[in-house]
Amino acid sequence: MNWDDTTDATPDAERLVGPPGERLVGSAADRDDQAVEAALRPKDLGEFIGQEKVREQLDLVLRAARARGATADHVLLSGAPGLGKTTLSMIIAAEMGAPIRITSGPAIQHAGDLAAILSSLQEGEVLFLDEIHRMSRPAEEMLYMAMEDYRVDVIVGKGPGATAIPLELPPFTLVGATTRAGLLPPPLRDRFGFTAHMEFYEPAELERVIHRSANLLDVEIDPHGAAEIAGRSRGTPRIANRLLRRVRDYAQVKADGHINRDIAGAALAVYEVDGRGLDRLDRAVLEALLKLFGGGPVGLSTLAVAVGEERETVEEVAEPFLVREGLLARTPRGRVATPAAWAHLGLTPPQQTRGTSGQQDLFGA
Ligand SMILES: Nc1ncnc2c1ncn2[C@@H]1O[C@H](COP(=O)(O)OP(=O)(O)OP(=O)(O)O)[C@@H](O)[C@H]1O
Ligand SMILES: [Mg+2]
Repeated sequence: MNWDDTTDATPDAERLVGPPGERLVGSAADRDDQAVEAALRPKDLGEFIGQEKVREQLDLVLRAARARGATADHVLLSGAPGLGKTTLSMIIAAEMGAPIRITSGPAIQHAGDLAAILSSLQEGEVLFLDEIHRMSRPAEEMLYMAMEDYRVDVIVGKGPGATAIPLELPPFTLVGATTRAGLLPPPLRDRFGFTAHMEFYEPAELERVIHRSANLLDVEIDPHGAAEIAGRSRGTPRIANRLLRRVRDYAQVKADGHINRDIAGAALAVYEVDGRGLDRLDRAVLEALLKLFGGGPVGLSTLAVAVGEERETVEEVAEPFLVREGLLARTPRGRVATPAAWAHLGLTPPQQTRGTSGQQDLFGA
């Protein structure tokens, strides 16, 4: 039997993950987040928690530009979803006392769309281009010239009679955001004066994020409660804020509204987010890997069938965090659990009979 041909016939109702955006520990913003995030966004660099290096460097870039009375250099923000790219873009505009125009790569289908936006910018305005790696090729080429020379060529007419009319632009600051810096063509990447790589946050930083948000949401939380939520937030402020809101619900319904360690732990147990931030899907993948396949190596398709999910869901939704946490490794021979995975699920790895290469012998290496 060829495992990879096995089709997946799990009914939707039994899936471990709902529609995209409904996962409590998912890093993309859901509708609920969008409604509340505006209120929780830090407004200036001083309020922005963590990312010390980025903050220090950006502070210098912006201060210097202000001192020169010039428009700030173009800034590229790269990092995983929910780490604060949109927030930082707004802070850049606020620190420069400039208006901000917000658009995104997918919204710019044609170069003409971009020309319309660029030609209506005011001097010094910040143009925030989210998901810049998803812009169309012709728009991208127009952007090169706009970034470098503050000029675009607007094409008028079609065919042999078409002419390019150069249009001067006022100086502006482009802030590009991307979750996939590697996908940016080098000529585009090189045109940014400053690139900030946003890292995942330390638990102590997330505790500060949680205290700050609790304050704004008028929620009482003690340091142990904040630490409990921070440890399960996958290094991501957006997830920390979302877990805080769910814990708040629980505290209001089941207790007096005050959040401490016990309440936070009990609430997140209800939502099936474990002590390390793994949810039901993550744990199902690990459990299958350990209990059914002895820790691997096992192929992705087999693992996906075992948990009743699509390959893509396992690969793109569950695995990145498991790999980041050092619980699972992707090897050319298949997925392999690390000793930390056995420890996390409280299981004992099987005794290897022939030295340390038991797993390899099994697969005839
Ligand atoms: N450094 C920070 N300090 C405090 N809160 C933060 C910080 N970074 C992010 N947040 C909070 O996390 C939420 C998500 O941040 P933001 O929308 O800026 O992420 P993003 O990187 O733009 O995500 P995406 O890639 O999905 O667009 C914001 O509402 C904000 O409240
Ligand atoms: Mg964003």
